[in-house]
Amino acid sequence: PQNRLTDRFGRTVNYVRLSVTDRCDFRCVYCMAEDMTFLPRQQVLTLEEIARVARNFVTLGTEKIRLTGGEPLVRKDILELVREIGSFGLRDFAMTTNGSQLPIMAEELRRGGLHRLNISLDSLDADKFRTITRTGKLSQVLDGIDAAKAAGFRGIKLNAVVMKGRNDEEVPELVEFARRKEVDITFIEEMPLGEISEHDRGLALCTSDEVRDIIRQHHELLPATEDSGGPARYYRMPGSKTRVGFISPHSHNFCATCNRVRVTVEGRLLLCLGNEHSVDLRRVLRSHPESDDKLQEAIIKAMDLKPEKHHFSSNGDVQILRFMNMTGG
Ligand code: GTP
Ligand code: 5AD
Ligand code: SF4
Repeated sequence: PQNRLTDRFGRTVNYVRLSVTDRCDFRCVYCMAEDMTFLPRQQVLTLEEIARVARNFVTLGTEKIRLTGGEPLVRKDILELVREIGSFGLRDFAMTTNGSQLPIMAEELRRGGLHRLNISLDSLDADKFRTITRTGKLSQVLDGIDAAKAAGFRGIKLNAVVMKGRNDEEVPELVEFARRKEVDITFIEEMPLGEISEHDRGLALCTSDEVRDIIRQHHELLPATEDSGGPARYYRMPGSKTRVGFISPHSHNFCATCNRVRVTVEGRLLLCLGNEHSVDLRRVLRSHPESDDKLQEAIIKAMDLKPEKHHFSSNGDVQILRFMNMTGG
Protein backbone atom coordinates (compact mmCIF):
# COMPACT_ATOMS: atom_id res chain seq x y z
CA PRO A 1 0.00 0.00 0.00
CA GLN A 2 1.05 3.59 -0.51
CA ASN A 3 2.57 5.16 2.57
CA ARG A 4 0.31 7.70 4.23
CA LEU A 5 2.44 8.44 7.26
CA THR A 6 4.52 11.58 6.79
CA ASP A 7 5.39 14.10 9.49
CA ARG A 8 5.77 17.90 9.50
CA PHE A 9 9.48 17.62 8.72
CA GLY A 10 8.99 15.51 5.60
CA ARG A 11 10.05 12.25 7.19
CA THR A 12 8.17 9.11 6.18
CA VAL A 13 7.31 6.67 8.95
CA ASN A 14 7.53 3.10 7.66
CA TYR A 15 8.82 1.34 10.77
CA VAL A 16 6.80 0.56 13.90
CA ARG A 17 8.13 -0.83 17.14
CA LEU A 18 5.44 -2.60 19.15
CA SER A 19 6.04 -3.29 22.82
CA VAL A 20 4.08 -6.44 23.68
CA THR A 21 4.66 -6.51 27.44
CA ASP A 22 6.25 -4.38 30.15
CA ARG A 23 7.28 -7.53 32.02
CA CYS A 24 10.66 -9.15 31.92
CA ASP A 25 12.50 -12.00 33.60
CA PHE A 26 15.60 -9.77 33.89
CA ARG A 27 16.07 -6.51 35.82
CA CYS A 28 18.88 -4.82 33.91
CA VAL A 29 20.31 -1.94 35.94
CA TYR A 30 19.92 0.62 33.14
CA CYS A 31 16.36 -0.40 32.34
CA MET A 32 14.46 -1.18 35.50
CA ALA A 33 14.43 -0.54 39.19
CA GLU A 34 14.88 -3.62 41.34
CA ASP A 35 11.31 -3.54 42.64
CA MET A 36 9.30 -2.76 39.51
CA THR A 37 5.53 -2.81 39.61
CA PHE A 38 4.00 -3.94 36.35
CA LEU A 39 0.80 -2.85 34.67
CA PRO A 40 -2.54 -4.40 35.59
CA ARG A 41 -4.00 -6.65 32.91
CA GLN A 42 -6.85 -4.37 31.71
CA GLN A 43 -4.42 -1.56 30.89
CA VAL A 44 -2.44 -3.82 28.59
CA LEU A 45 -3.48 -4.33 24.98
CA THR A 46 -4.67 -7.85 24.20
CA LEU A 47 -2.80 -9.79 21.54
CA GLU A 48 -5.79 -9.24 19.24
CA GLU A 49 -5.58 -5.49 19.81
CA ILE A 50 -1.85 -5.49 19.10
CA ALA A 51 -2.44 -7.44 15.89
CA ARG A 52 -5.13 -4.94 14.91
CA VAL A 53 -2.76 -2.04 15.47
CA ALA A 54 -0.10 -3.82 13.41
CA ARG A 55 -2.50 -4.57 10.57
CA ASN A 56 -3.62 -0.95 10.35
CA PHE A 57 -0.07 0.36 10.33
CA VAL A 58 0.63 -1.99 7.43
CA THR A 59 -2.44 -0.65 5.61
CA LEU A 60 -0.98 2.83 6.07
CA GLY A 61 2.34 1.84 4.52
CA THR A 62 4.44 0.26 7.27
CA GLU A 63 7.07 -2.12 5.87
CA LYS A 64 8.93 -3.02 9.02
CA ILE A 65 7.71 -4.14 12.42
CA ARG A 66 9.80 -4.92 15.47
CA LEU A 67 8.36 -6.54 18.58
CA THR A 68 9.92 -5.40 21.83
CA GLY A 69 9.16 -5.42 25.54
CA GLY A 70 9.95 -5.68 28.31
CA GLU A 71 10.85 -9.12 27.18
CA PRO A 72 8.50 -10.10 24.34
CA LEU A 73 8.99 -13.81 24.87
CA VAL A 74 7.54 -13.80 28.39
CA ARG A 75 4.16 -12.71 27.02
CA LYS A 76 1.78 -15.66 26.99
CA ASP A 77 0.85 -16.86 23.49
CA ILE A 78 3.35 -14.51 21.85
CA LEU A 79 3.86 -17.11 19.11
CA GLU A 80 0.29 -16.56 17.93
CA LEU A 81 0.99 -12.86 17.45
CA VAL A 82 4.24 -13.66 15.64
CA ARG A 83 2.43 -16.01 13.28
CA GLU A 84 -0.27 -13.43 12.63
CA ILE A 85 2.14 -10.60 11.85
CA GLY A 86 4.37 -13.09 10.02
CA SER A 87 1.52 -13.69 7.59
CA PHE A 88 1.39 -10.00 6.53
CA GLY A 89 4.33 -10.45 4.14
CA LEU A 90 6.36 -7.57 5.60
CA ARG A 91 9.70 -6.58 4.10
CA ASP A 92 11.19 -6.87 7.58
CA PHE A 93 9.83 -8.46 10.76
CA ALA A 94 12.12 -8.44 13.78
CA MET A 95 12.22 -8.87 17.54
CA THR A 96 14.44 -7.50 20.29
CA THR A 97 14.87 -10.02 23.10
CA ASN A 98 17.07 -10.77 26.08
CA GLY A 99 17.54 -14.27 24.70
CA SER A 100 16.59 -16.24 27.79
CA GLN A 101 13.67 -18.04 26.14
CA LEU A 102 15.34 -18.63 22.79
CA PRO A 103 16.60 -22.13 23.59
CA ILE A 104 12.98 -23.29 23.59
CA MET A 105 11.43 -20.73 21.20
CA ALA A 106 13.90 -19.81 18.45
CA GLU A 107 12.80 -22.51 16.04
CA GLU A 108 9.07 -21.72 16.39
CA LEU A 109 9.71 -17.99 15.99
CA ARG A 110 11.57 -18.56 12.76
CA ARG A 111 8.83 -20.83 11.49
CA GLY A 112 6.24 -18.22 12.51
CA GLY A 113 7.73 -15.80 10.01
CA LEU A 114 10.11 -13.71 12.12
CA HIS A 115 13.11 -12.59 10.02
CA ARG A 116 15.62 -11.10 12.42
CA LEU A 117 16.55 -11.10 16.09
CA ASN A 118 18.40 -8.57 18.23
CA ILE A 119 19.69 -10.21 21.38
CA SER A 120 20.99 -8.22 24.35
CA LEU A 121 24.38 -9.34 25.62
CA ASP A 122 26.28 -7.00 27.91
CA SER A 123 28.86 -9.38 29.31
CA LEU A 124 30.46 -12.77 28.74
CA ASP A 125 31.42 -13.12 32.36
CA ALA A 126 28.75 -14.99 34.32
CA ASP A 127 29.17 -12.89 37.46
CA LYS A 128 29.21 -9.56 35.66
CA PHE A 129 26.26 -10.66 33.57
CA ARG A 130 24.38 -11.38 36.75
CA THR A 131 25.34 -8.02 38.27
CA ILE A 132 24.12 -6.11 35.22
CA THR A 133 20.92 -8.09 34.61
CA ARG A 134 20.35 -8.81 38.34
CA THR A 135 18.36 -11.98 37.59
CA GLY A 136 19.70 -13.20 34.24
CA LYS A 137 21.69 -16.33 33.63
CA LEU A 138 24.46 -16.04 31.04
CA SER A 139 24.53 -19.70 29.98
CA GLN A 140 20.86 -19.56 29.06
CA VAL A 141 21.41 -16.56 26.80
CA LEU A 142 24.46 -18.15 25.17
CA ASP A 143 22.38 -21.25 24.46
CA GLY A 144 19.71 -18.93 23.10
CA ILE A 145 22.16 -17.36 20.67
CA ASP A 146 23.17 -20.81 19.43
CA ALA A 147 19.53 -21.83 19.08
CA ALA A 148 18.86 -18.68 17.05
CA LYS A 149 21.80 -19.45 14.80
CA ALA A 150 20.61 -23.01 14.29
CA ALA A 151 17.11 -21.81 13.43
CA GLY A 152 18.48 -19.89 10.45
CA PHE A 153 17.33 -16.32 10.97
CA ARG A 154 18.03 -13.82 8.19
CA GLY A 155 19.97 -11.68 10.65
CA ILE A 156 21.12 -11.83 14.26
CA LYS A 157 22.52 -8.83 16.06
CA LEU A 158 23.86 -8.58 19.59
CA ASN A 159 23.23 -5.42 21.62
CA ALA A 160 25.60 -4.28 24.36
CA VAL A 161 25.01 -1.21 26.50
CA VAL A 162 28.51 -0.14 27.52
CA MET A 163 29.03 1.24 31.01
CA LYS A 164 32.26 2.43 32.57
CA GLY A 165 33.58 0.11 35.23
CA ARG A 166 30.89 -2.46 34.49
CA ASN A 167 31.63 -3.94 31.09
CA ASP A 168 33.78 -1.48 29.13
CA GLU A 169 36.78 -3.75 29.59
CA GLU A 170 34.92 -6.53 27.87
CA VAL A 171 34.39 -4.72 24.60
CA PRO A 172 37.21 -6.57 22.76
CA GLU A 173 35.93 -9.93 23.97
CA LEU A 174 32.39 -9.13 22.89
CA VAL A 175 33.68 -8.26 19.41
CA GLU A 176 35.66 -11.51 19.30
CA PHE A 177 32.57 -13.44 20.35
CA ALA A 178 30.46 -11.83 17.61
CA ARG A 179 33.13 -12.65 15.03
CA ARG A 180 33.28 -16.25 16.18
CA LYS A 181 29.50 -16.62 16.02
CA GLU A 182 29.34 -14.67 12.73
CA VAL A 183 26.69 -12.26 14.00
CA ASP A 184 26.59 -8.46 14.09
CA ILE A 185 27.10 -6.50 17.27
CA THR A 186 26.01 -3.01 18.27
CA PHE A 187 27.37 -0.98 21.14
CA ILE A 188 24.84 1.37 22.69
CA GLU A 189 25.24 4.53 24.74
CA GLU A 190 22.98 4.38 27.74
CA MET A 191 19.93 6.60 27.51
CA PRO A 192 18.35 8.41 30.48
CA LEU A 193 14.96 6.74 30.64
CA GLY A 194 13.27 6.17 33.96
CA GLU A 195 14.42 7.26 37.40
CA ILE A 196 16.64 4.49 38.68
CA SER A 197 17.98 5.66 41.98
CA GLU A 198 20.64 3.06 42.71
CA HIS A 199 22.23 3.45 39.27
CA ASP A 200 24.30 6.54 38.42
CA ARG A 201 24.08 7.00 34.66
CA GLY A 202 26.28 10.09 34.57
CA LEU A 203 29.21 8.10 35.93
CA ALA A 204 28.52 5.05 33.83
CA LEU A 205 28.20 6.62 30.39
CA CYS A 206 30.78 5.33 27.95
CA THR A 207 30.61 7.13 24.61
CA SER A 208 30.71 5.40 21.26
CA ASP A 209 33.94 7.23 20.44
CA GLU A 210 35.55 5.66 23.48
CA VAL A 211 34.26 2.21 22.55
CA ARG A 212 35.47 2.61 18.99
CA ASP A 213 38.94 3.56 20.21
CA ILE A 214 39.07 0.42 22.34
CA ILE A 215 38.08 -1.79 19.38
CA ARG A 216 40.58 -0.10 17.07
CA GLN A 217 43.38 -1.33 19.32
CA HIS A 218 42.44 -4.85 18.16
CA HIS A 219 40.69 -4.56 14.81
CA GLU A 220 40.64 -2.33 11.80
CA LEU A 221 37.21 -0.73 11.44
CA LEU A 222 36.12 0.32 7.95
CA PRO A 223 32.93 2.33 7.56
CA ALA A 224 30.29 0.07 6.03
CA THR A 225 29.05 1.48 2.78
CA GLU A 226 25.40 0.58 3.08
CA ASP A 227 23.34 2.91 5.23
CA SER A 228 21.33 1.15 7.91
CA GLY A 229 18.61 3.78 7.79
CA GLY A 230 18.43 3.34 11.54
CA PRO A 231 20.17 4.81 14.53
CA ALA A 232 23.27 2.63 14.25
CA ARG A 233 26.40 3.57 12.31
CA TYR A 234 28.07 0.41 11.06
CA TYR A 235 31.63 -0.65 10.43
CA ARG A 236 33.08 -3.84 9.04
CA MET A 237 36.31 -5.61 9.81
CA PRO A 238 38.65 -7.06 7.19
CA GLY A 239 38.27 -10.82 6.95
CA SER A 240 34.97 -10.99 8.84
CA LYS A 241 31.28 -10.87 8.02
CA THR A 242 30.51 -9.33 11.41
CA ARG A 243 29.45 -5.72 11.35
CA VAL A 244 30.07 -3.50 14.35
CA GLY A 245 27.45 -0.83 15.00
CA PHE A 246 27.30 2.14 17.31
CA ILE A 247 24.13 3.71 18.63
CA SER A 248 25.07 7.06 20.04
CA PRO A 249 22.07 9.12 21.09
CA HIS A 250 24.37 11.41 23.06
CA SER A 251 27.22 11.98 20.68
CA HIS A 252 25.58 11.42 17.31
CA ASN A 253 22.06 12.51 16.71
CA PHE A 254 20.22 10.59 13.97
CA CYS A 255 16.84 12.26 14.34
CA ALA A 256 16.91 13.90 10.90
CA THR A 257 16.38 10.55 9.21
CA CYS A 258 14.10 9.02 11.83
CA ASN A 259 11.56 6.69 10.18
CA ARG A 260 10.00 5.12 13.27
CA VAL A 261 7.30 5.36 15.89
CA ARG A 262 6.52 3.16 18.89
CA VAL A 263 3.42 1.74 20.46
CA THR A 264 3.61 0.96 24.16
CA VAL A 265 1.89 -2.05 25.64
CA GLU A 266 -0.82 0.31 26.93
CA GLY A 267 -1.51 1.35 23.36
CA ARG A 268 0.18 4.70 23.61
CA LEU A 269 1.56 5.76 20.22
CA LEU A 270 4.87 7.47 20.98
CA LEU A 271 6.29 9.70 18.30
CA CYS A 272 9.84 9.81 19.70
CA LEU A 273 11.81 7.77 22.21
CA GLY A 274 13.12 10.90 23.92
CA ASN A 275 9.86 12.76 24.14
CA GLU A 276 6.48 12.34 25.79
CA HIS A 277 4.22 13.32 22.87
CA SER A 278 1.77 10.48 22.46
CA VAL A 279 -1.69 9.48 21.30
CA ASP A 280 -3.93 7.04 23.13
CA LEU A 281 -4.74 4.33 20.58
CA ARG A 282 -6.21 2.02 23.21
CA ARG A 283 -9.14 4.36 23.72
CA VAL A 284 -9.79 4.46 19.97
CA LEU A 285 -9.41 0.66 19.68
CA ARG A 286 -11.88 0.00 22.48
CA SER A 287 -14.47 2.62 21.56
CA HIS A 288 -14.53 1.55 17.89
CA PRO A 289 -14.34 -2.23 17.92
CA GLU A 290 -16.06 -2.68 14.55
CA SER A 291 -14.44 -0.17 12.23
CA ASP A 292 -10.80 0.74 11.69
CA ASP A 293 -11.49 4.19 10.20
CA LYS A 294 -11.08 6.10 13.46
CA LEU A 295 -7.94 4.14 14.31
CA GLN A 296 -6.30 4.98 10.99
CA GLU A 297 -7.39 8.59 11.33
CA ALA A 298 -5.80 8.80 14.78
CA ILE A 299 -2.53 7.27 13.54
CA ILE A 300 -2.31 9.62 10.55
CA LYS A 301 -3.06 12.66 12.70
CA ALA A 302 -0.51 11.62 15.31
CA MET A 303 2.30 12.17 12.81
CA ASP A 304 1.89 15.92 13.29
CA LEU A 305 3.11 15.44 16.86
CA LYS A 306 6.44 13.89 15.89
CA PRO A 307 9.10 16.27 17.19
CA GLU A 308 12.12 17.30 15.16
CA LYS A 309 14.56 15.69 17.57
CA HIS A 310 15.08 14.24 21.03
CA HIS A 311 16.64 16.15 23.89
CA PHE A 312 18.63 13.69 25.91
CA SER A 313 21.36 15.23 28.00
CA SER A 314 24.63 13.47 28.69
CA ASN A 315 25.00 14.33 32.36
CA GLY A 316 22.63 11.60 33.44
CA ASP A 317 19.73 13.92 34.12
CA VAL A 318 16.44 12.19 33.61
CA GLN A 319 13.99 14.07 31.48
CA ILE A 320 11.92 11.06 30.60
CA LEU A 321 10.29 9.37 33.55
CA ARG A 322 8.94 6.45 31.56
CA PHE A 323 11.07 3.34 32.01
CA MET A 324 12.72 1.64 29.06
CA ASN A 325 10.62 -1.51 29.49
CA MET A 326 7.53 0.57 28.68
CA THR A 327 9.04 1.66 25.42
CA GLY A 328 11.06 -1.25 24.17
CA GLY A 329 14.03 0.92 23.30
P1 GTP B 1 16.91 -1.79 13.82
O1 GTP B 1 15.49 -2.13 13.78
O2 GTP B 1 17.73 -2.71 12.98
O3 GTP B 1 17.19 -0.33 13.56
O4 GTP B 1 17.33 -2.13 15.27
P2 GTP B 1 17.68 -1.26 16.52
O5 GTP B 1 19.12 -1.43 16.79
O6 GTP B 1 17.14 0.10 16.39
O7 GTP B 1 16.77 -2.00 17.58
P3 GTP B 1 17.02 -2.50 19.04
O8 GTP B 1 15.66 -2.83 19.55
O9 GTP B 1 18.01 -3.58 19.06
O10 GTP B 1 17.54 -1.27 19.82
C1 GTP B 1 18.89 -1.05 20.07
C2 GTP B 1 19.07 0.29 20.76
O11 GTP B 1 18.71 1.32 19.85
C3 GTP B 1 18.19 0.45 21.97
O12 GTP B 1 18.95 0.98 23.01
C4 GTP B 1 17.17 1.43 21.50
O13 GTP B 1 16.70 2.20 22.55
C5 GTP B 1 17.94 2.26 20.51
N1 GTP B 1 17.05 2.91 19.58
C6 GTP B 1 16.24 2.33 18.68
N2 GTP B 1 15.52 3.26 18.02
C7 GTP B 1 15.89 4.46 18.52
C8 GTP B 1 15.50 5.82 18.27
O14 GTP B 1 14.65 6.11 17.45
N3 GTP B 1 16.10 6.79 19.01
C9 GTP B 1 17.05 6.51 19.93
N4 GTP B 1 17.62 7.52 20.60
N5 GTP B 1 17.44 5.25 20.19
C10 GTP B 1 16.87 4.23 19.51
N1 5AD C 1 19.80 3.00 27.34
C1 5AD C 1 20.22 2.36 26.23
N2 5AD C 1 19.83 1.11 25.90
C2 5AD C 1 18.99 0.51 26.71
N3 5AD C 1 18.43 -0.70 26.63
C3 5AD C 1 17.60 -0.85 27.68
N4 5AD C 1 17.63 0.23 28.46
C4 5AD C 1 18.49 1.11 27.88
C5 5AD C 1 18.94 2.42 28.18
N5 5AD C 1 18.52 3.07 29.28
C6 5AD C 1 18.71 -1.63 25.55
C7 5AD C 1 18.68 -3.08 25.94
C8 5AD C 1 18.25 -3.77 24.67
C9 5AD C 1 17.63 -2.67 23.84
C10 5AD C 1 16.23 -2.90 23.49
O1 5AD C 1 17.69 -1.50 24.59
O2 5AD C 1 19.94 -3.54 26.32
O3 5AD C 1 19.34 -4.30 23.98
FE1 SF4 D 1 14.52 -6.88 30.52
FE2 SF4 D 1 15.59 -5.86 28.31
FE3 SF4 D 1 14.98 -4.27 30.34
FE4 SF4 D 1 16.99 -5.98 30.56
S1 SF4 D 1 16.88 -4.26 29.12
S2 SF4 D 1 15.39 -5.63 32.11
S3 SF4 D 1 16.29 -7.69 29.42
S4 SF4 D 1 13.53 -5.39 29.14
